[in-house]
Amino acid sequence: MQNRRHGLFITFEGGEGCGKSLQARMLFDWLVSLNKEVVLTREPGGTELSEEIRKWLLVGNINSWDQTTESLLFLAARSDHWFKKILPTLTDGSIVVCDRFQDSSVVYQGVCKGVSLDMLDKIYLEITGDRYPDRTYLLDMPPEVGIQRSISRSGNSETRFEKMDISFHEKVRKAFLELADQHSERYLVIDGNLSFAEIHEKIKKDLMQRFPDISL
Ligand code: TYD
Repeated sequence: MQNRRHGLFITFEGGEGCGKSLQARMLFDWLVSLNKEVVLTREPGGTELSEEIRKWLLVGNINSWDQTTESLLFLAARSDHWFKKILPTLTDGSIVVCDRFQDSSVVYQGVCKGVSLDMLDKIYLEITGDRYPDRTYLLDMPPEVGIQRSISRSGNSETRFEKMDISFHEKVRKAFLELADQHSERYLVIDGNLSFAEIHEKIKKDLMQRFPDISL
């Protein structure tokens, strides 16, 4: 497997309710069924401290934080997650499947809320030393569909971002598509309106093509 010596780092990105968490779980289950060493994780979150930060970030009022504080909290959560979980797993030669990562900060805080992209990049490089995901799946769909799905999930209290208006989410969609275009070497854009089984098949096929020994 390409990069096998350093593990394989797979991320999922997309707007609200696009189905990426389900796809990350399905991919994890498939990799486990192949007897791979794999860790399923998410951002913000993935460690005890980062899950605490997640609660501050995602529950409550849209204006709880100014965007710089918000960005630094996402990055603090990422740093703890990187050093305690992602990096050790990759160093072991295992696979990390992560639901959201730095590209979400670039899109939400950087492009859509106007936080300095230069600052976001610099702190990211300080944390990871220039390591990026090996493959990123972007599940793309119109925001109205995703937001409705996300808000109607029973018991979902993490709705601070869902409360932003629709033009914000349209900007998020466009920014993700642009980022995918800029980093086409690691991105695959998938239509989020396909059935979950069809999306899963596309992801499996893509991984087997790019990393042929993944299914061995
Ligand atoms: P997530 O739990 O993936 O929510 P959903 O499944 O509803 O898409 O992500 C939570 C929210 O956090 C989401 O609105 C995007 C936002 N977010 C950022 O703004 N910046 C970041 O760096 C990350 C990781 C997430």
